[in-house]
Parts: sequence; structure tokens; C-alpha cells
Amino acid sequence: MNKHPDFERIMLTEEQLKQRVKEVALAVDEEYEGKRPLVVGILKGSIIFYADFIRFLTMPLELDFMVVSSYGSGTVSSGKLHIKKDLDRDVAGRDVIIVEDIIDSGFTLANLKALLLERGAASVKIVTLLNKEDRREYDIEPDYNCFDIENEFVVGYGLDYDEQYRHIPYIGILKPSVYEKK
Ligand code: IMP
Ligand code: MG
Repeated sequence: MNKHPDFERIMLTEEQLKQRVKEVALAVDEEYEGKRPLVVGILKGSIIFYADFIRFLTMPLELDFMVVSSYGSGTVSSGKLHIKKDLDRDVAGRDVIIVEDIIDSGFTLANLKALLLERGAASVKIVTLLNKEDRREYDIEPDYNCFDIENEFVVGYGLDYDEQYRHIPYIGILKPSVYEKK
């Protein structure tokens, strides 16, 4: 695989991502058999994971999306959740599956889960691609997680640094010089 020149190292290859996403999706597929969940992708970070994940689900379902942000352009959380785009569908009585790229402090998902339950969702479960357990500040855990990672800033497969690198098909760490250029 040709490594992007801004990447210092690759943490998860396309092959590793593909295999593990399938494994997790099949477990979710089993749990929701006979149901009709609303699968909520958190944009933009979850887009590639979301597209790969839903293609393994075999039950009837609807797609919906939210745009939220707790981050500015940097790499440190600003501690305030903004809903920039809300759901199109009513969640009342629905089984909701939130699909997120990464759980870090847990701020985003703790707030979102509480909000959807408040709106009357029958159930809310969380599926994450990545989990930074050591960074957790809020009392929330993913119901399904693909990979536990160390406290390092990662990009690729949907994840960005300043809106760059989302389209890179693997996940990795950027060279320090990339941050120095800012
Ligand atoms: P939390 O609200 O602190 O859990 O942060 C979750 C959000 O922070 C994710 O949806 C990402 O947008 C962003 N984030 C956290 N860590 C990383 C990372 O290593 N790379 C890219 N984005 C990250
Ligand atoms: Mg995000």
C-alpha cells in the first residue's frame, strides 16, 4: 500500500478495517433481527464507516444523519455540542443505532444519546469505529466498538485533521511537520 506522504505511520490497514467492520456489523445484524432500526450516522466523520457498515445489515431499516460538532479546527475539544443538522425522521418509539467514527471524551455521544432518549426513542445503541478509552470524561460506552486505540490523533477512513484526509482509505498518524505548518 502506498502511504500518503503526510502520514508518519499506518495504524489500521484497509484489510483490517474491512474485516473488523464486517465482524461488528454481523453482530449488530443479529441483534436487530426482526426489528426496523433507524440508523443514524454522525457526519462527517462516520461517512465511510457508515457506508461499509450498513451494507452488512439485512433487516429493513432507514438511514438518517446528524451533523454535530464539539470541535473547532484544532485537535482539542471545545466542550460544547452544536447540532448543525438535525434528523429528518421522528425517533419516538424507534430503535436507534448511532454510528460514530470515534468516542474520545464521550461528550458527543453522551449528549446525543440523552437527547434521543428524551425525544422518546424506544432504544438507543452506539456503534463506534474507534474507542479512546483513556480519554473518557463522560459516563458513556459504545455498545459495539471496532477498535480500541491509544491516545493519539488519527486521520483517514472518514476522520479528518482540519477537514483533510477523510478520503484516505486507511487510518494513521500524521507527521508532526503537518501540524507545524498550520
Ligand atoms: P468526544 O465528544 O470527545 O467523544 O469526541 C468525539 C469527536 O471528536 C469525534 O466524533 C471526532 O470528530 C473527534 N475526534 C476525537 N479524536 C479524534 C481523532 O483522533 N481524530 C479525528 N477526530 C477525532
Ligand atoms: Mg465526529
